[in-house]
Amino acid sequence: MSEALANLLNETRQFPPPAELAADANVTADAYAEAEADRLAFWERQAGRLIWAKQWDQVLDWSNPPFAKWFVGGQLNVAYNCLDRHVEAGRGDKVAIHWEGEPGDTRTVTYAELHRLTCQAANALTELGVVAGDRVAIYLPMVPEAAVAMLACARIGATHSVVFGGFSVESLTNRIQDASAKVVITADGGYRRGKPSALKPTVDEAVANCPSVEHVLVVRRTGEEVAWSAKDRWWHETVETASAEHTAAAFDAEHPLFILYTSGTTARPKGILHTTGGYLTQVAYTTHAVFDLKPETDVYWCTADIGWVTGHSYIVYGPLANGATQVMYEGTPDTPHKGRLWELVDKYGVTILYTAPTLIRTMMKWGEEIPAGYELSSLRLLGSVGEPINPEAWMWYRQHIGRGELPVVDTWWQTETGAIMISPLPGVTAAKPGSAMAPLPGIDADVVDDQGQSVPNGGGGYLVLREPWPSMLRTVWGDDNRFIETYWSRFGAGAGGATGAEWVYFAGDGAKKDDDGHIWLLGRVDDVMLVSGHNISTTEVESALVSHPSVAEAAVVGATDPTTGQAIVAFAIPRGTAETAGETGEQLIADLRAHVAKTLGPIAKPRQIMLVPELPKTRSGKIMRRLLRDVAENRSLGDVTTLQDSSVMELIASGMSGGKSDED
Ligand code: WT7
Repeated sequence: MSEALANLLNETRQFPPPAELAADANVTADAYAEAEADRLAFWERQAGRLIWAKQWDQVLDWSNPPFAKWFVGGQLNVAYNCLDRHVEAGRGDKVAIHWEGEPGDTRTVTYAELHRLTCQAANALTELGVVAGDRVAIYLPMVPEAAVAMLACARIGATHSVVFGGFSVESLTNRIQDASAKVVITADGGYRRGKPSALKPTVDEAVANCPSVEHVLVVRRTGEEVAWSAKDRWWHETVETASAEHTAAAFDAEHPLFILYTSGTTARPKGILHTTGGYLTQVAYTTHAVFDLKPETDVYWCTADIGWVTGHSYIVYGPLANGATQVMYEGTPDTPHKGRLWELVDKYGVTILYTAPTLIRTMMKWGEEIPAGYELSSLRLLGSVGEPINPEAWMWYRQHIGRGELPVVDTWWQTETGAIMISPLPGVTAAKPGSAMAPLPGIDADVVDDQGQSVPNGGGGYLVLREPWPSMLRTVWGDDNRFIETYWSRFGAGAGGATGAEWVYFAGDGAKKDDDGHIWLLGRVDDVMLVSGHNISTTEVESALVSHPSVAEAAVVGATDPTTGQAIVAFAIPRGTAETAGETGEQLIADLRAHVAKTLGPIAKPRQIMLVPELPKTRSGKIMRRLLRDVAENRSLGDVTTLQDSSVMELIASGMSGGKSDED
């Protein structure tokens, strides 16, 4: 078998942009031609969206690959670009953040106020001894102070390391230690699922083992009682009493802006390092291009947590660099009821919504009656990120959230890429449901086979990036070798390719090109199944299952099989409406097996299908197939500490051991 990855799913639906959007789009098809003609000149023009204190001498220095330098010699301040320049231009009264707490309390934060708070926090951090180059760990709920803390670090040249507020003592400790953080910014707690959820006790335990930490700044959010030590300072007594006068100094374009640890489920987490000028250039450009953001009229909402890269690039830096007005929500989508997100879309008149496939599939499971109870008429553009979006989930999103007419942009990128890389342009691309379509202007992505050769249209293989891009990771914090080994050693020069070979970045994802050359992401290559000599992607089988009207969400794994090498084992969550359809579990399973065989061919027919109420997911919403493989192969469960909800595995495993699912 020479195929790198089979191409089984054939999706032919295609949706051109709405005419009004296309007529007034921020970016037209010309952008592709411009970038094609001169990629570096294209990025240089995008850097012109920012205010630089000192112009760069060279756009890209790639003389020491894979270590890139962008906008060499240039200097700028990130916070100045996100705040001061909007205030100076007379837009201080414009709302930056419509914040909604889970209990329903609200705050309206203007650019002037965000600027004032950031200046105060910058002064407070300086007083606590933080200087440019120091690391600051941020462990906060979704409150405006999270953005303020990040911007204050950027303002004084400190490197932030945001740790998702759901992470354990151990994860927090490792991350603080790896970066030798000097200060930790946290809160007493935040609200989750209707209750206060404490954060400070986790920080106390972690800091006890982190000698680098000199001070802990504590935001008061829940008012719950907290233990107090000599290192602790209340935010309201330190930041909110500090001077609001602060002049932002300019930093080198390659000054470290932040470290963000990948949500890797197995190995020691990697501290992905992003720097200043190239990062801000690409997040600012992609926010403008992919979301077609019009700062004067749009109300933008990205539902990610600030603890993930999506929150960094598309809540904080991209939208604020563009002067956007956005919604920020503290809580969970089902508190106090399952229509909470839609209620907020109506309340704030959200026009652009950026969310994850896991949330869309959850909404499918809950049923379309829920969004149908809201207007949603303000929306004009929908985005997706985080996992492959199944064609049926894409259609559901367009149909039930997008009134059957809104463009959906499926955006592929990674913590490592810093910004969106592959995505439709909403005013240009006739999008296909489930496809990220094409590399953005200025980005060179390809799909290659085992030998690193570009596959023809219709072929599957590995997604690679062939040219450096401005927001690329610069290294793994403290571990250049790991950076090279993990990302640059599979293909091209770093794999010992022929002399003169180029450096090729391998993203770890499988992908295919359809007959028109459009790119379809097929999941992590570690998850690919080898069935009777065919490499089959989990994504395609999952999408086939979700294309059955009774399935909301599915996860597929390869389990060792004496005849076929691996056999396909599927876990499926029925849709809200399936229960009323009167189908029994046995019948549905038989239907689903036949449906997959018909959609993708007999090779992809699952050996076994389990109907389950939930799937194991990481805290950022990705399905943890590793755990399902354990179940499918009757092994005891591996590490479950990164699970969003650990009881899910017990539920699934108990259904398995009886050989039947709960619904049977
Ligand atoms: C991995 C990166 C990108 C910000 C959030 C996740 C998967 C992401 C897509 C998409 C298919 C996607 C990939 C990627 N992924 N977006 N649109 N289609 N897969 O960041 O935690 O670093 O995860 O998420 O597998 O490599 P991350």
